[in-house]
Amino acid sequence: MRILVGVGGGIAAYKAAELVRTLGVRGHEVQVAMTRAAGEFVRPLTFASLTGRKVITDLFSEEGPIEHIAVARDNDVLVVAPATADLMAKFACGLADDFLTTTFLAFTGKVVLAPAMNSAMWLHPATQANLSTLERRGCSIVSPSDGWLACREMGPGRLAEPAAIVEHVEALMRTKRDFEGENFLITAGPTQEALDPIRYISNRSSGKMGYAIADAAARRGASVVLVSGPVSLTPPPQVELVSVRTAQEMRKAVMDHLAEATIVVKNAAVADYYVASVPQQKLKKTAARLSLELDPTPDILAEVGEKKGDRLLVGFAAETENLVEEARRKMLSKHCDMLVANLVNREGLGFEADNNEVEIITRGGKTAHAGPAGKRQIAEQILDQIALLRLTLRAVDASA
Ligand code: CTP
Repeated sequence: MRILVGVGGGIAAYKAAELVRTLGVRGHEVQVAMTRAAGEFVRPLTFASLTGRKVITDLFSEEGPIEHIAVARDNDVLVVAPATADLMAKFACGLADDFLTTTFLAFTGKVVLAPAMNSAMWLHPATQANLSTLERRGCSIVSPSDGWLACREMGPGRLAEPAAIVEHVEALMRTKRDFEGENFLITAGPTQEALDPIRYISNRSSGKMGYAIADAAARRGASVVLVSGPVSLTPPPQVELVSVRTAQEMRKAVMDHLAEATIVVKNAAVADYYVASVPQQKLKKTAARLSLELDPTPDILAEVGEKKGDRLLVGFAAETENLVEEARRKMLSKHCDMLVANLVNREGLGFEADNNEVEIITRGGKTAHAGPAGKRQIAEQILDQIALLRLTLRAVDASA
């Protein structure tokens, strides 16, 4: 792929060097363009050494005007990392006062923006409005993560890891539209079960796996409803988001959307128990020991399994031991066609992490392994397995 990397003027510009290096290692042809401000953080020589090409820093050079139209035409994708608040504002308004902003306007290919900035700047309504505008116009956003920022604060605004940006770009450029005509109903994230008006029971699910599946399914042509518990992720574009908090709310949202669904993916980490009668007032620290009485929540997957019809049903299982046996048991007892099982007690994989490693088990007894890899890549592999299973089930129907 021919990739134009636009480097904006933020401290995260140093991470763009790793991004450019990785893109090169993966066989892409990379041209770098830097804003004047980016040059204050990293020297063009860094990028020129990594790409073996002259870095574009100006619209006008001593040799004459740079052909921004030719650069725009010659590249398949424009990746801006870090996309600063200033750059996004300029892109949203159509300002063209340097090479990168001018090329953005002239660019007709796919655009990926990886924002990075201080948390307050990121959360400012102006930045969020610019982000929505750009997303609406088709830019693909690699959301910043939460973490320790250069301004010595914790919060959202940290540039996504270079490997995640590469994965995003490669996934975006895949053009398979094999889920056109399918209606996905996907659940993601944890649920929160109230103990009193301010406390709740929940789990460590980040929602990243379910959101990656929703994003990939939408890009592969499906129409997608994403029922999500509370997470701090930007919903993927082209996906209808239904936000819920509790298992009961998730159940209702799933049942409300079940009739149209042709493929159901139950990735959410639903709480198994809840407090049926939540006190109106805050629980006070009066007794030496506090016992909570918990009732079981509805098993949404099992209920969908009972009403399955000819829908394709994919469950998930989070296990700490006996992965495959437990997964198989859950798949059969909940009437799933496929079950994706992941061991959740491994450092850097599964819950909260950007990476995952899973076993994909299908009703016919076939098992596939995916990862360890980024969750976007795992999402693609899960969808590939769903596509295969759909083919097999159709062949069985046709021969019946
Ligand atoms: N699930 C659900 N509703 C629940 C509990 C689980 O829909 N109340 C779904 C999950 O979304 C997942 C699958 O069931 O697709 C398996 O979830 P998991 O928590 O691994 O299994 P449980 O059936 O809850 O069993 P256990 O917690 O005993 O392992």
